[in-house]
Amino acid sequence: MNILAFESSCDETAVSVVKDGRTVLSDAILSQADMHALYGGVVPEIASRKHVEAIAGLTDQALADANLTKKDIDAVAVTYAPGLIGAVLVGVSFAKSVAYALGVPLVPVHHIRGHIAANYLAFPELKPPFLALAISGGNTMIVDVKDYTDMEILGATRDDAAGECFDKAARVLGLPYPGGKPMDLLAQQSQGGKYTLPRARVEGAELDMSFSGLKTSVVNLAHNAEQKGEPLDAAALARDFAQAVSDELVPRAMLAAQQTGRQVMVAAGGVAANSVIRGDLEEACQKAGIRLYLPPLKLCGDNGAMIGAQGYYEYLAGKRAALDLNAYATMELSEQE
Ligand code: KG4
Repeated sequence: MNILAFESSCDETAVSVVKDGRTVLSDAILSQADMHALYGGVVPEIASRKHVEAIAGLTDQALADANLTKKDIDAVAVTYAPGLIGAVLVGVSFAKSVAYALGVPLVPVHHIRGHIAANYLAFPELKPPFLALAISGGNTMIVDVKDYTDMEILGATRDDAAGECFDKAARVLGLPYPGGKPMDLLAQQSQGGKYTLPRARVEGAELDMSFSGLKTSVVNLAHNAEQKGEPLDAAALARDFAQAVSDELVPRAMLAAQQTGRQVMVAAGGVAANSVIRGDLEEACQKAGIRLYLPPLKLCGDNGAMIGAQGYYEYLAGKRAALDLNAYATMELSEQE
């Protein structure tokens, strides 16, 4: 079964064809990151406009790269939540028109479910149940993936997402947007251990996380150094920062594994590309005897293939959208209609 999948929830327009939820036939993607870098972050209105400009051409490209024509498409899948509302709307509107024109089912996909499903593309043997540490620019959560479409959030950030925190810290250090990758590269130049950064605990919710204190702490540290004219060891700060984020995430993921008895863990989302977090997860899972799947870097960030993968399982579960499908800025992944 060939699914034509659309992703436009933030600043990547992506169209992909995925066969039977596991094989990527094509993955056309256009990132707007360079454009938003001029402003230090995503400008929602520009993102929407750029999606409109790109989506039709990328659809042609995705079909051509897959060596298929429109007649070979069996269903259309689309990210309908969560994300920048104007941006998500472009993908939803376009996907609706394609599904209508081709006379094929339209399958709505939750963006974070898609990130988790990216692992199905990389690891053919992976099947639920497993735990997922889903860490992206807009979301940070530990998810119990009981089945392909049955998921429960065990813990989540109470404020900022891990990626947002990386982006803000990078900005303070004068690094370009999106800051996660440059922060990661900078951190690799240092052993760290120079700056003391906070680790948060949410009273009464041991799997929940908080990143706003860490973010403020880095901002204050950099501003204080600037005001006093003191030099800042940016590489050490980047390394210590990555460690602080990892210390929020990895022990909680391991605790969730202990509490649920799950033996398999996957990472998902843009921040899952981080080298410190990947290393810490590998070490912790090895110690605990848990099988860990880390998606290849290409599948960590937003892409259309992950929506095609999850779309296939949503389709098998009977999920269909009518042509009045709406886009949503927020939606819990366990709430998907
Ligand atoms: O999953 P994603 O592409 O988009 C969302 O669904 O949000 O995640 C983007 C986020 C950005 O905040 C970016 O800075 C971060 O992932 N990111 C990283 C790394 N690569 C991307 N954060 C830390 N280390 C990285 N290597």
